[in-house]
Amino acid sequence: MDNYIRIFDTTLRDGEQSPGATMTSAEKLEVARTLARLGVDIIEAGFPAASPDDLEAVRRIALEVGNPSDGSRPPVICGLARASRGDIEKAWEGVNLAAHPRIHTFLATSEIHMKYKLKMTPQQVLERTREMVAYARSFCADVEFSPEDAGRSEPEFLYQVLAEAIQAGATTLNIPDTVGYTMPAEFGALISGIIQNVPGIDSCIVSVHCHNDLGLATANALAGIQAGARQAEVTINGIGERAGNTALEEVVMALYTRQPVYHCTTGIDTTQIAHASKLVSNYTGMSVQPNKAIVGANAFAHEAGIHQDGMLKNQQTYEIMLPEMVGVKQTRLVMGKHSGRHALKQRMADLGYMLDEAELDKLFQRFKALADRKKGITDSDLEALVSDELYQPKEFFTLDGLQVACGTIGMPTATVRLRGPDQKLYVQAALGSGPVDAVYKAIDAIVQSPNNLLEFVVHAVTEGIDAIGEVTVRIEGEDGKRTMSAQSGIEQPRSFGGYGADTDIIVASAKAYLAALNKMLVATGRAEATPLASVEMSTR
Ligand code: KIV
Ligand code: ZN
Repeated sequence: MDNYIRIFDTTLRDGEQSPGATMTSAEKLEVARTLARLGVDIIEAGFPAASPDDLEAVRRIALEVGNPSDGSRPPVICGLARASRGDIEKAWEGVNLAAHPRIHTFLATSEIHMKYKLKMTPQQVLERTREMVAYARSFCADVEFSPEDAGRSEPEFLYQVLAEAIQAGATTLNIPDTVGYTMPAEFGALISGIIQNVPGIDSCIVSVHCHNDLGLATANALAGIQAGARQAEVTINGIGERAGNTALEEVVMALYTRQPVYHCTTGIDTTQIAHASKLVSNYTGMSVQPNKAIVGANAFAHEAGIHQDGMLKNQQTYEIMLPEMVGVKQTRLVMGKHSGRHALKQRMADLGYMLDEAELDKLFQRFKALADRKKGITDSDLEALVSDELYQPKEFFTLDGLQVACGTIGMPTATVRLRGPDQKLYVQAALGSGPVDAVYKAIDAIVQSPNNLLEFVVHAVTEGIDAIGEVTVRIEGEDGKRTMSAQSGIEQPRSFGGYGADTDIIVASAKAYLAALNKMLVATGRAEATPLASVEMSTR
């Protein structure tokens, strides 16, 4: 058995299915490019049967990221399909343009899923597995099969289903702990049992796919690897259905840091991890908890005096990984008012951002404006600026001006001026319970896209009174736009995340809200259906 662990990233499928993680096709493409730079072996680009938009996003990723023009090794591009002809055909339509396409089909094997969800007998599940894996193989030489809810399936029955899948041509067998139920020792034993008992298993790669409902996703994935699995299904920041999936960064860094325990390697360029984490967090509007392993803001912070003392004497007293290994740059003053365009370009390249001239122009303007207000500009400040300026959804409405009045006397009031998709300026004023509420009400009066604000988070990028504030918001449209879960088939309301950064947190809040609204307008198709009938228009 080789000791190379294939990293199968499902941020764009299982991750994107989680509430609030909706991304536009342009964002999905950028995430896929970032995953390819990170060195993932397989990108699960989506669930093409979910909607025409999902299919189109997978096709674009297959075409562009699945066929790199710079001669780099292309990742496998995978599309998910339920075990039905229609889904498999759509998955193939999505991935066939990639240099290395894969179809991933699944069918539940636990008693509870077969009886209540599928309403199928075990015999019917065996037959459908054989038939659908063979159907997928008729299109694609690389076929992955998952017995859904394997963690709660009868092992003997699981062996039979997997043997059928192998005979029908499956090349990867993925073992999901769909509901995050198993304990590491049980999951490890399940993988060993499969390797020992399934005829023909040697010709396949065994994979693990663990959910985090009991906080054990990473532990279970590692137990599976120790038992012989050679593919791990993961997401950036561990996003995914309910409590999420195994986090890519956790498995990769555990294998790396504890090499003498696992004796396994991956193809991941670990220095790209922090960048990928930030990108996914900004695009999904799902902020990373500060104490999250590897990528949380506090993962390499040492507050306690005793720790700081130890760290000064020898870094290894409290640090098992170097922050640089995962691309976390120690905060330091890098640039100031007099730094030039070239220095900025170089610094961004060092941080992993390859900017073209137009992007650099935009960023340089923001950098200069910030340098007028803030003395020393750190790497974290630059990353916040690049996220705010360049990694935004297509902008239909942009913030052109903002004025707020608030305090302890009178009602908070905001006046907001937006540039609309027709390039005209629109102005509205509103009262609110606080300055942010007033700003959001004024924006609502212009954009007129009813929604509920589900989440609002403010966070300072660096220390100090002049720090940049980052705001992430999540909204849900009231027009019923829904997304379908591949597994349950249930349609849930779609929610949209937005990100904004500025030294003024009210401005950052307005930008984050507009980013989420812009995303919602694209997804609901309203962006094309402007202009806005009933808003006031300024004369300027
Ligand atoms: O959790 C799960 O069972 C899945 C399958 C589709 C692999 O996501
Ligand atoms: Zn899953």
